[in-house]
Amino acid sequence: MPLGVRRFAFATLVTTVVALSTAIVADAGNGGFLPGGAASPNGEKIHTAFIVVAIFTGVILLGVEGALVAFVIKYRRGKRPRTAEGPQIHGSSKLEVIWTVLPVVILAIIGAVVFIELPGITNAPKAAAADETQVDIVGHQYYWLFRYPNGAVSIDRLVAPADEVVNEHITSPTWDVIHSWWVPDFGGKYDAIPGKVNKTWFKAPAGTYEARCYELCGIQHAAMKATVDVVPRAQYDSFIATRAQGGIALGQEEWQGVCEKCHRLGSKYIGPDLQGNPLLADRKGIETLLRNGQGQMPSVGRDWTDLQIDALVSYTKQFAKGGNG
Ligand code: CUA
Repeated sequence: MPLGVRRFAFATLVTTVVALSTAIVADAGNGGFLPGGAASPNGEKIHTAFIVVAIFTGVILLGVEGALVAFVIKYRRGKRPRTAEGPQIHGSSKLEVIWTVLPVVILAIIGAVVFIELPGITNAPKAAAADETQVDIVGHQYYWLFRYPNGAVSIDRLVAPADEVVNEHITSPTWDVIHSWWVPDFGGKYDAIPGKVNKTWFKAPAGTYEARCYELCGIQHAAMKATVDVVPRAQYDSFIATRAQGGIALGQEEWQGVCEKCHRLGSKYIGPDLQGNPLLADRKGIETLLRNGQGQMPSVGRDWTDLQIDALVSYTKQFAKGGNG
């Protein structure tokens, strides 16, 4: 083997081993290459589309790469001189028809599956209209605000009734930026666009599901995580009834989900240290700050109700005077 060829073969071998071993690590770390199980009908549809596309592309990949390797070995130069030319072949109608028609058929099948499976995602099934629940999902820098039909609010934790259609109205305030609401187990990602409402729905068994912001929205984008707690109907009803009264539990959620994204007690973080800050007990002062923002701080509470601000102060006043909070 000439030196160049030997070097190339060696480099290919090393690259392959490195690629395969990192792939194995990735596989183990993320629980596999396939998307996780779908917990909602929309997730199942996207999963089906993924599998169909993966089967066709997988077969094509193996076919093309297999043929490539087989041809490289079968028609290698061997003892022929480097200058020898191979046989000159011009045209094969049969082959050309096959490699034109086959891809067209494959694309038609993939297209049909996608167009049949995916349109149901924005429109909730009609039969379920009677028991449907609607939640406003509002992306803010840097937290998710959930508003329920009775006016109750939660932060970074969406509570929803199990096995029922839950309509999601996803948006962001006109003064905010674009975020993206993504619950991998429920399927696709939905942009939360200032002043525009994007609609989707889910129907999931009881359980806790992870949610993420999937649109780079500023310095704390990565901290914009949330959970979806799907619980029995009675538990959901009692949660929103209690929450509609505001209270310290809401205040704690606001502190952790909104303030703590940028502030800490006892140290400077993205924003100033809040330990002992008298503003934390000052209902009027804190309202002005939340509604208008200040310097780098966005107006995180511009669309909050009075109840929400009361709830926050009821929780934060404990940190207003020195000590360990
Ligand atoms: Cu919100 Cu990224």
